[in-house]
Amino acid sequence: MNSHVMRRLLAVPASILLLASTAAHSAAQSWVVNPASDNAEVVSQLFWFTLVLAAIVFVLVEGLLIYSSLRFRRRAPLPLHEPPQIHGNTRLEVMWATVPALILIGLFGITVTRLGDLSQLPTSDPNALRIAVTGRQFQWEFGYGDTGVKSTNTLHIPTNRPLIFEVTSADVIHSFWVPDMYGKIDANPGRVNRISFSARQPGTYRGVCAELCGAGHAGMLFRVEAVSPNDWQQWIDQQKSGAPPPGAAAGDPTAAGRDLIGQKGCGGCHVIPGVPGANGAVGPSLAGVANRRTIAGGAVPNNSPDDLKKWIMNPPGVKPGTAMPNLGLTDDDATKIVAFLETLK
Ligand code: CUA
Repeated sequence: MNSHVMRRLLAVPASILLLASTAAHSAAQSWVVNPASDNAEVVSQLFWFTLVLAAIVFVLVEGLLIYSSLRFRRRAPLPLHEPPQIHGNTRLEVMWATVPALILIGLFGITVTRLGDLSQLPTSDPNALRIAVTGRQFQWEFGYGDTGVKSTNTLHIPTNRPLIFEVTSADVIHSFWVPDMYGKIDANPGRVNRISFSARQPGTYRGVCAELCGAGHAGMLFRVEAVSPNDWQQWIDQQKSGAPPPGAAAGDPTAAGRDLIGQKGCGGCHVIPGVPGANGAVGPSLAGVANRRTIAGGAVPNNSPDDLKKWIMNPPGVKPGTAMPNLGLTDDDATKIVAFLETLK
C-alpha cells in the first residue's frame, strides 16, 4: 500500500474523531447534558433514550457483521470450493422485520406523547407570566405581562415560574430560539405563536434568531437573564419607577448626558429609564443598552462606548436606511450621552 492511500485511509478515523470531539464539546454546553428548563429536560430524556437504543442496535449489528466477516472469511486458497448455500429462514426474517418495527412504533409513541406535553400551555395557571416577543430586522423586543415594562435584546425571566411567550414579528419571518431552554418557535408577521417553558436555575443563556431573515440575521442574538422571582420583581419595579439608575443621579457626570437626551427628544422614539417622558415605541427601548452585545440591529457588532458614540453621531452613515436620524451631535454632546447610556445596565 503506498503512503498516499495510507494517508487517505487514516484521514477517515481522524475526521470521525474530530467530529465526535466537536459534538461532545458543544453538547457539554447545551441542553443535552445541562437542560436549563423543564422543556429541555423532556427533550434531553428523549434524546438519551433514543441514543442508547440506537447504540445497542448499532453495536449488535456491527458486531455480528465483524464476527461474520472474520469467522467466515476465505481461508482456503483458490480455487474456491463453494460453501453451503442457504435459501431463506422464515423465523429469522419475521423476527428482523418485527423487532425493528416494534422499536420504531414504540419510539414514535413515546416521542408523540412527550412532544404533545411540550406544546401544552399553562394558560390556566394564575402564576404564569406572559411575555410578548417581537422580532424585527434585526433585534428582539420583549414585553412583560401587564407591567408595561419592555426590553430589547435582553430577556429577563424569573426562574421556576411558567412562562408563556407570545411570539410575533414586525416585518419578515424570524424564529425565536433559546437552545438551552428548548424554546423555539417561528415569529411570523400578523400572527401570534405561543410557546412555554420554565427556567430551572438563575443564569445567563444565549438566544438566537433561527430563521434566515436578511443581512443582519447572524447578529440577531439576545441574552436571557434568568434570576430568582424576587430579583426579577425588583428589576421590573426599577424599570417601572423610571428612577435613574444609581450612576445617573443629579450631580453625576452622566447627568449631563441624561439632560441632553431629554433635550434632543430621544424619548419620542425610545423608552429610556431615568429620562422623564421617554416612552417612545418607534425605536428599541434603551433599558439595559449598555449590556447589549450589539447595537443598531447588529450594524454595530461590538457595543463599545467608542462604537456607540460613532453610531449616535451619524446613524445613517453607519447603517444606511436606518430610521434613526443624524441629530447633529457635537463630539462633546455625544461623549456625555454615551456616558449616560453606559449607566443603563
Ligand atoms: Cu431574524 Cu434571522
